[in-house]
Amino acid sequence: ATNRTFTMIKPDAVQNGHIGNILAMITNGGFKIVSLKLTQLTVADAQAFYAVHAARPFYGELVEFMSRGPIVAAILEKDNAVEDFRTLIGATNPAEAAEGTIRKAYATSIGENAVHGSDSDENAAIEVFLHSISYTE
Ligand code: CMP
Repeated sequence: ATNRTFTMIKPDAVQNGHIGNILAMITNGGFKIVSLKLTQLTVADAQAFYAVHAARPFYGELVEFMSRGPIVAAILEKDNAVEDFRTLIGATNPAEAAEGTIRKAYATSIGENAVHGSDSDENAAIEVFLHSISYTE
C-alpha cells in the first residue's frame, strides 16, 4: 500500500552541494515529496531524534554532526515507502553501499553518510509526526 517515510539530507551532503542531485534520485526512484524543509537541528533536536542510539559510542559524534549545519527534512510517499527508500539509500557504511544508491554516490564515511531513512513503519510514523510539528519558530 502507499505509505510514507521520513528522510533527512544530512549536513555533509548539504555542505557538499548535493541537495539537488539527491532530490533528483529520490523523485526518479518513484517517491513523491509531500513535505520539504531546509532547517537545522539544535543539539537537543539531534539528541532526541537519535535517543535510541544514546548508549552507542558514536552518539556524541552523531549529535554533533547532525546539528553542525543545515539539513533538508522531507516526507516521502510511495508504495512500500520505508523498505524501498532504504534500498535506494544503501548500506550505512558507504564502502558497503550498492552501486546506484545515494550513499554510494554521496556518503563520505559511516558517520557522515549523506542521508537518513526511517528504519521501520513504526519509526516512520513517529518521525513523520515529529517533522509535522517541528521547526516552527
Ligand atoms: P543512520 O543509520 O541514518 O542513523 C544512525 C546513524 O549513526 C547512522 O546513520 C550514522 O550516521 C551513525 N553511525 C552509525 N554507525 C556509526 C559508527 N560506527 N560511527 C559513527 N557514526 C555511526
